[in-house]
Amino acid sequence: MLVSAKEMLQKAKAGKYAVGQFNINNLEWTKAVLQTAQELNSPVILGVSEGAGKYMCGYTTIVGMVNGMINELGITVPVALHLDHGSYEGAKKCIEAGFSSVMFDGSHYPIEENIAKTKELVETCDKLGLSLEAEVGSIGGEEDGVIGAGEVADPKECKMIADLGVTMLAAGIGNIHGKYPENWAGLSFDTLDAIQQLTGDMPLVLHGGTGIPAEMIKKAISLGVSKINVNTECQLAFADATRKYIEAGKDLQGKGFDPRKLLADGTQAIKDTVKEKMELFGSVNKA
Ligand code: 13P
Repeated sequence: MLVSAKEMLQKAKAGKYAVGQFNINNLEWTKAVLQTAQELNSPVILGVSEGAGKYMCGYTTIVGMVNGMINELGITVPVALHLDHGSYEGAKKCIEAGFSSVMFDGSHYPIEENIAKTKELVETCDKLGLSLEAEVGSIGGEEDGVIGAGEVADPKECKMIADLGVTMLAAGIGNIHGKYPENWAGLSFDTLDAIQQLTGDMPLVLHGGTGIPAEMIKKAISLGVSKINVNTECQLAFADATRKYIEAGKDLQGKGFDPRKLLADGTQAIKDTVKEKMELFGSVNKA
């Protein structure tokens, strides 16, 4: 059964570890993440971006697939199905479709509008027992080939959004989606510390988990980060293993073209990446 991310994240914040959000892109991805979480006895959050939602034939298809897998694979660890960087409309659609958690990313709105929309969603999610993630200070990344520095959130604005009663809060602290550029300045721990001082028990979310050095991850967790999002790193691992399989000519041997064989190495690479992250984040045996 899907659960809200509230309890798992409050436990993580109190226990000084982080729960991984792993974005899913297809059936193999979802199965790989769920099986690894179960093997490691770790809570897990499955992230779905609006784009990935369309690619996987809509939110109801995803809810059906994830619930089916939890059942068929005998998954007993806590699993939250979470909309990643949702628009206001997207969040409403996911709530209707049966997601157990949503993110409303109002970081591009003026703060007053971000507050108004987030507040409305807090009420809806509270009624239904769902968790809600809000965002302040947008996260940098590559757009049309231009790599922007990660934006840094204003701790006072973080406090204003946290006080609305959201479950978890994403705040820009110089983090970026995708690969980090050579000249990346690193995470702003002073900002993170100031945000945590003002928001107290609120679980903080670190986006752009791909490529952040282990020491920075550990320091971020010690300063209140309890949810870390990873997407690109699993994609890179999957693509690399699949390319090696094909370059070695394995798809041309016997029934190597069968997708069950063709995608097996890539799927294993996702599992290995998820395992490495869960160990680094400290969520192993915290189910
Ligand atoms: P990466 O793709 O950089 O791992 O970021 C994932 C993320 O933050 C999803 O919201």
